[in-house]
Amino acid sequence: MKRTDYCGRIDRRHLEQIVTVMGWVHRRRDHGGVIFVDLRDREGLVQVVFDPDRPESFATAERLRNEYVVRVIGLVRPRPEGTVNANLGSGEIEVLAHDIEILNAALTPPFQLDDENISETVRLQHRVLDLRRPQMQKNMMLRHRTATAARRYLDAHGFIDIETPMLYKSTPEGAREFLVPSRIHHGQFYALPQSPQLFKQLLMMAGFDRYYQIVKCFRDEDLRADRQPEFTQIDIETSFLDEQEIRDLMEGLVRTMFRDALGVALPDPFPVMRFADAMRDYGSDKPDMRVPLKLTELTDVMKTADFKVFRAAAELRNGRVAALNVPGGGALSRKEIDDYAAFAGIYGAKGLAYIKVNDASRVSEEGLQSPIVKFMSQDLLHAILQRTGAKSGDLILFGADREKVVNDALGALRAKIGHDRGLAESGWRPLWVVDFPMFEYDDAARTWAARHHPFTAPKDGHEAFFDADPGRAVAKAYDVVLNGWEIGGGSVRIHREEVQSRVFAALRISPEDQRRKFGFLLDALQYGAPPHGGIAFGLDRMVTLMAGAESIREVIAFPKTQRGQDLLVDAPTAVPEQQLRDLHIRIRASDSVKVS
Ligand code: AMO
Ligand code: AMP
Repeated sequence: MKRTDYCGRIDRRHLEQIVTVMGWVHRRRDHGGVIFVDLRDREGLVQVVFDPDRPESFATAERLRNEYVVRVIGLVRPRPEGTVNANLGSGEIEVLAHDIEILNAALTPPFQLDDENISETVRLQHRVLDLRRPQMQKNMMLRHRTATAARRYLDAHGFIDIETPMLYKSTPEGAREFLVPSRIHHGQFYALPQSPQLFKQLLMMAGFDRYYQIVKCFRDEDLRADRQPEFTQIDIETSFLDEQEIRDLMEGLVRTMFRDALGVALPDPFPVMRFADAMRDYGSDKPDMRVPLKLTELTDVMKTADFKVFRAAAELRNGRVAALNVPGGGALSRKEIDDYAAFAGIYGAKGLAYIKVNDASRVSEEGLQSPIVKFMSQDLLHAILQRTGAKSGDLILFGADREKVVNDALGALRAKIGHDRGLAESGWRPLWVVDFPMFEYDDAARTWAARHHPFTAPKDGHEAFFDADPGRAVAKAYDVVLNGWEIGGGSVRIHREEVQSRVFAALRISPEDQRRKFGFLLDALQYGAPPHGGIAFGLDRMVTLMAGAESIREVIAFPKTQRGQDLLVDAPTAVPEQQLRDLHIRIRASDSVKVS
């Protein structure tokens, strides 16, 4: 029975040898008396030839259908001239079957494994078959190599793997939580952790010095291409290092993962950008640095402009007017500009004013084609052209609104147009974004909220701003961004109890709530907490980028859909009434679903 090697690994080295391979029938072709079978396993394909000279094997081969599982014993021989397949590891050879055994039959699969145009729904319903596709096998192996590289690096640097609880308690970390009802404690709930944040801090206080865990985290958020309700972090914490030292160590980890798993050398060191500069120049805290476009600030000159829409935005307390110059964008059609305006609308932009610079030397309606030029003075038009550096043939797009809307809309447009217009460079552009604000104002809730999480340390001395001007306080927080994706984020933590209490107070968490929710943390902080900090990387996102995939679902074996469903096992589902009773739960009538 013994296999001698994987199908995909049989090559010239095996010439004239008898091999035993096991695998799935990928394709069968009858060629006038000879049968060819491409046999597939996780390492690739090998061509097996059945000759009528061996009637018994030949008869078995005639019964083979796609996805049958077989064992073949045969002689490795060179392929006849002209039939060599350079795209295949085993492309120079074929296996002349001496013997075949069908280990298991298979129903006709609902789709051809090599069909590229299967809907994601069908793929997820039949995930087992989908995972057999060579691309998915590659993705999962890439994921394995990436995680292994991380473990090796962290182990070599003295980090120890410690598991933390999955049944945790409800804490305010940002996203909505998944709750787990307690059977023993009537009416009480565990929460699944959004991250092991506080446990890893407690482990530092417990003296473990360096911790890591490749760990599932749970967030009940709206899902997107780069978000799943359960996802995997490479979660890390260390004691006695400052911000720069932590970043250096973590940068080394990212470089090692890319080198070992993908053979890619990332820049050394990663460039560093302050949060404020990222927002000003790119409208985003995760700018795609492959796109060379930058935003141009116009708020100051618009304060005195005649064009009301722009002046009103410039005069808002948190307003902004900015421009995006698209080189060569004058070639865009009206329809294309309208489509970009609709795209900006997704981010809340109420319009997308533009100037087509037909002739940069004629600064008037003569040279500038635009619905808004007639509202603008010569001086203003000169200022716009000069600041944006626009040349004849360019297109200038404008955003005017609250700062957040302008940044979101123009930031997203910048990346989209850059890629659409072929302006983006290829390759890997990692970036540290640093100096995040401690707090951001939540307009809806009318309170300050932690920008990262409430355990993030302020820059030295910035506690002074907490009361009078929280927006000025800067945090020792940092993100790693790669090609426009946030792949990791972390911070130096608060290790003094009084600072932690002051942050809670700034967040309007009452002393009673502080005790109830975080008593265990405030206590531990008083029994000798070392300075500490860390980071968490999104493993799914990193591997998605490495694989060049569109969505993190491509690198997760059994992902959820955009609506949070597992289509393979069919989850979530209703449960029998008795199970609910045991958990002391009654489903509200209006939300009730039929129990099957
Ligand atoms: P943060 O919330 O920034 O930090 O998460 C860290 C990284 O996890 C990834 N990520 C996700 N990936 C897939 N689906 C999601 N829903 C999702 N949410 C986050 C991102 C992100 O950069 N405890 C802190 C880390 C720390 O301070 O050490 C934390 O969880 O790549
Ligand atoms: P209006 O005067 O509202 O017709 O707008 C004139 C031009 O300005 C149109 O091209 C709009 O798309 C654009 N516009 C309107 N509001 C904004 C805004 N907040 N930001 C950018 N452009 C806008």
